[in-house]
Amino acid sequence: MPKISEREQWGSKLGFILAAAGSAIGLGSIWRFPYITGQYGGAAFVLVYTLLVFSIGISLMMAEIVIGRRGKLNAVGSFKALGGGAWSIVGWLGVIAAFIILSYYGVIGGWTIAYFIKSFTGLTSHSSSGQIAKTFEIFVSNAGSVIFYQVLFMAATIFVVYNGVGGGIERLCKICMPALFILMLILILRSVTLPGASKGLSFFLKPDFTKITGEVLLAALGQAFFSLSLGIGAMIIYGSYLPEDSNIPSSSAQICFLTLLISIMAGLIIFPSLFAFNMEPAAGAGLTFITLPVVFAKMPAGFLWSALFFVLFFFAALTSSVSLLEVVASYFIDNFGWKRSRATLVLGIIITIAGIPSALSQGAVPINLFGKSFLDAADFFASNLLMPLGGFFISLFLGWKIHNIAKEEINNLSENSFPLTKTWLFILQYIAPICIAIIFISGLRS
Ligand code: TRP
Repeated sequence: MPKISEREQWGSKLGFILAAAGSAIGLGSIWRFPYITGQYGGAAFVLVYTLLVFSIGISLMMAEIVIGRRGKLNAVGSFKALGGGAWSIVGWLGVIAAFIILSYYGVIGGWTIAYFIKSFTGLTSHSSSGQIAKTFEIFVSNAGSVIFYQVLFMAATIFVVYNGVGGGIERLCKICMPALFILMLILILRSVTLPGASKGLSFFLKPDFTKITGEVLLAALGQAFFSLSLGIGAMIIYGSYLPEDSNIPSSSAQICFLTLLISIMAGLIIFPSLFAFNMEPAAGAGLTFITLPVVFAKMPAGFLWSALFFVLFFFAALTSSVSLLEVVASYFIDNFGWKRSRATLVLGIIITIAGIPSALSQGAVPINLFGKSFLDAADFFASNLLMPLGGFFISLFLGWKIHNIAKEEINNLSENSFPLTKTWLFILQYIAPICIAIIFISGLRS
């Protein structure tokens, strides 16, 4: 196992925030958030999601980063190092969850590449939203092309992880995230000024509290975990590269805020245009891909906006997928002494193959599981079951097993201690485990 002094560190504080925000912000905010919001009734879901991000979400993010910075290893290793042999099972659970998530993440990541290319071949020249939805259906029904683009996306992911954690990811995030932010602002302006946009705004922003059911709570919990990269030890790994003098609470707050901001921005682009064109909010996994081209089609030089958006969307997805592969690979690197090159290649290829049923399940071949498409079933299993389960145990571990170490670690900046230490620990000891358990049970029963 590598000694502490040998572990690479982030080039700068901003580098860590950007990389962690890069891990968080990705398909979860731009693809998953809008389609789940559409499926679970709009604003009420958004409200629950927001509350979860700033209570359980932020506390767990701090917990994971603390565990990583103190343990200095991947999730399994950090749990072991901090004195819990049996707890390392949680890290294991995370490795399995990351494996599953990345398998279908690569599929949607592939869609972003395909749509980048389609931007140049007439995607935005269709005048009707029906035709654009049809383009999507035709695309996902073509087994060869969905797998081709999935493989391309996974190859890019493997390439970045192969070359190590620091440089590549940091540099990528520094350029792409601000660019994506600005482009999304422009798209919001276009979307909210479409005739008929206001219906979409009220769907997205005016909560109807009667819509909050156990199922909605579980979906919001899953989305909070998915979008913030929590529950599977990804932030433990990022924390393990973090220098001692970094401010964990403020970094975590920034990451949560940015993720929420990008999610809300994605919603502000998608829902107004969706309603302006009388499209269906519960369209499912294709929602972002059938709505955005309609917006681009309404802009001068639409194909250029489209190409620019999908290229940045691709990079946002890539900075997340690398963190997923890193979770799986670093386990094999730290625990079995595999070389980074071997771990990334071998595991990357296996995960790509494991993703093929998900790739096909969106239209090419009807592969279903528990009444959902294979991709949806894998997503449900990972996001709504494995990740909250991981979060449940991580909060117990930090809140009960290592709370003294945690207090020390979160307050180790001599100049300013963290004023909310007690609240934070209270959330991890009681609120988070109890809420997760209740949401879990009510969500699975409904
Ligand atoms: N948060 C990422 C997204 O929203 C997905 C992701 C990357 C992730 N790494 C993760 C999810 C680790 C859970 C755990 O697109």
